[in-house]
Amino acid sequence: MQPEFWHARWAANRIGFHEGRVNTLLEQHAEHLPTRPDSTIFVPLCGRAVDMLWLRERGARIIGSELSETAVREFFELANLHPTITQHGPLTAFEAEGILIYAGDVFELSADQLGPVDATYDRAALVALPEDMRRRYAKHLVTLTNAAPQLLICFEYPEGAITPPPHSVPLDWVTMAYQDTYTIRELTRGAITGNLKNEVSGQEYVCLLTPR
Ligand SMILES: C[S@@+](CC[C@H](N)C(=O)[O-])C[C@H]1O[C@@H](n2cnc3c(N)ncnc32)[C@H](O)[C@@H]1O
Repeated sequence: MQPEFWHARWAANRIGFHEGRVNTLLEQHAEHLPTRPDSTIFVPLCGRAVDMLWLRERGARIIGSELSETAVREFFELANLHPTITQHGPLTAFEAEGILIYAGDVFELSADQLGPVDATYDRAALVALPEDMRRRYAKHLVTLTNAAPQLLICFEYPEGAITPPPHSVPLDWVTMAYQDTYTIRELTRGAITGNLKNEVSGQEYVCLLTPR
């Protein structure tokens, strides 16, 4: 998937994936994410999800990664936060009040730049990527976060039912990609909700990935 695809989506405001409210499954399973004040949660491919504000309110420091600078600027504007902006090679860092977002390609982000993280919250990130890139992303995420635990929210639907993204990523795929690093536990599964339910019927599931 080319970066232009996502830049065009943000430019045209075609962001059906953006919920504008805290994700219900996150609310239900947040106990699996560390939110003590000294903890850091990484949110890859974060868009402008308000989930980041909600997690920060619960105490955690947030680091996001998002390709679209438009999305990042909108996130801070809508939150009425005034970020400090610094350049780090190809990435632009926006930081305010416990939330740091690197605008640019997540594959340009290094473990050194990211620093230690206690957990990853992946909602609609793994499923945003086509197979080849998704494999690369899964490996990169493990290296980036030093195999930090993950709370992962995925969609699964009959292959070919819609034009992705989101891609259908069954639990078997998650197991294939992550089983060497993590123990994978499905926490819940139910019918797809949100905007996507108007396009396709399938399932949405949440997994907890715990380092082996
Ligand atoms: C389906 S959206 C999900 C956004 C967010 N997680 C949410 O729940 O609203 C996927 C996001 O990934 C971003 N993205 C795609 N490729 C990326 C990359 N290589 N590096 C960083 N972000 C990327 C897109 O711009 C888009 O905002």
